[in-house]
Amino acid sequence: MAQFQVVKGAKDIFPEEIVRWHYIEGVIRSVTALYGFSEIRTPVFEYTELFQRGIGSTTDIVGKEMFSFLPDPNGRSITLRPEMTAGVMRAFLQKYPGGGVPAHKLYYVADLFRKERPQAGRQRQFTQFGAELLGVSSPAAVAEVISMMMQVFDSLGLQGLKLRVNSLGDLDDRARYRDMLRAYLEPFRDKLDEPSLERFDKNPLRILDSKNPAVQEIVAGAPKLLDCIRSEGRAEFDRVLGYLADRNIAYEVDHLLVRGLDYYGHTAFEVVSSELGAQDALGGGGRYDALSKELGGNVEIPAVGFAVGMERLIIAMEKQGLFAALTPHGPQVFVVLQDSSLEDQALRISDRLRHAGVSVESDLAGRSMKAQMREANRLMAGFALFVGQDEVASGNYTLRNLKTSEQFSLSLDAIPGVLHESSKQ
Ligand code: HAM
Repeated sequence: MAQFQVVKGAKDIFPEEIVRWHYIEGVIRSVTALYGFSEIRTPVFEYTELFQRGIGSTTDIVGKEMFSFLPDPNGRSITLRPEMTAGVMRAFLQKYPGGGVPAHKLYYVADLFRKERPQAGRQRQFTQFGAELLGVSSPAAVAEVISMMMQVFDSLGLQGLKLRVNSLGDLDDRARYRDMLRAYLEPFRDKLDEPSLERFDKNPLRILDSKNPAVQEIVAGAPKLLDCIRSEGRAEFDRVLGYLADRNIAYEVDHLLVRGLDYYGHTAFEVVSSELGAQDALGGGGRYDALSKELGGNVEIPAVGFAVGMERLIIAMEKQGLFAALTPHGPQVFVVLQDSSLEDQALRISDRLRHAGVSVESDLAGRSMKAQMREANRLMAGFALFVGQDEVASGNYTLRNLKTSEQFSLSLDAIPGVLHESSKQ
């Protein structure tokens, strides 16, 4: 029988790589804390209608990328979450039907599932770091959320990112714009590709972000959505831009930015990295005030948020050499046995040291001292602790620093102190 392989579009993450995830997650946790955001965890599956209503039935995600199934023959269809925003809003409305306190600040690092064609930076199971600010979506709130995202990138040392922003206006603005756009595109119909023609009736705005150069050439001359937005929405957008400029956050207004999820209105944004090739979007987000009502909420919950693809973040950081300083840690102490009859003693010593907060490894396979030393070096242990009959009898052990070869003769109780001192050097 052929050996089993990981499912197409999914990946295993081994310890060599997990250190990168832990490092990035540490930065995310500390930056989000600076802005007062706390973590939320929601189930990996939701009722399918949540995404149909929330993300929009004409979007690619709902149309063809969801992993959906029936839990039992008469049950309601369930879907593995393709994104977090709809689930977070659902959870929030369930807990706070009246809307709760003015601002809830939530972040997540979560696994998601989309049935896309796998390629570099595009998986079927992937992870997003994201944040949702629920209860307020003023220009200041939008700027705050964008600032937090950019501070995470900054703290990780990422360079060469581009922040693109646009305003999608409100429902009326978009309805007027849709008509204008169709009227503009009508004479080019025979030059549009298949996906664009499909979008022409259902969701013509998505034609604007086509990756096909022939379509891009056509839409370059299209009327601008921003010009259709009435004065109040326009003024709000200008305030967002003003706040970004105040915080020295460089941005570019991109008239073709529309995003692939239907819940957005007013400000939308995306961050792209030149390190990512075809899948160049590192993250994106925007305001989504209409989502709460769309999900059956009694009250409208103004909201703004973003999400960043962790795998893409790792690819971009790797290309910029930002993991070079991350060295894997070995155990502090490797217990080396003079002969295997002392195995019981060694286990007792390991146990005692571990309870004193020292990380310890020992040979569990009864190998020679030479093989044990090789293993200590392979694991990058800081110190070797030699255990023989004499040491056990006297209670005095030899501890060798494996980097400097300095040796100490000491009791077990003195070991944590010596390790502590050496970690400061
Ligand atoms: P999104 O643009 O669909 O937005 O996804 C955000 C990011 O997730 C993308 O920029 C990309 O880095 C990553 N991503 C998406 N699909 C894949 C994939 N198949 N493989 C690897 N990475 C992927 C959202 O999901 C919105 N919920 C963001 C949001 C939060 N808006 C408001 N709040």
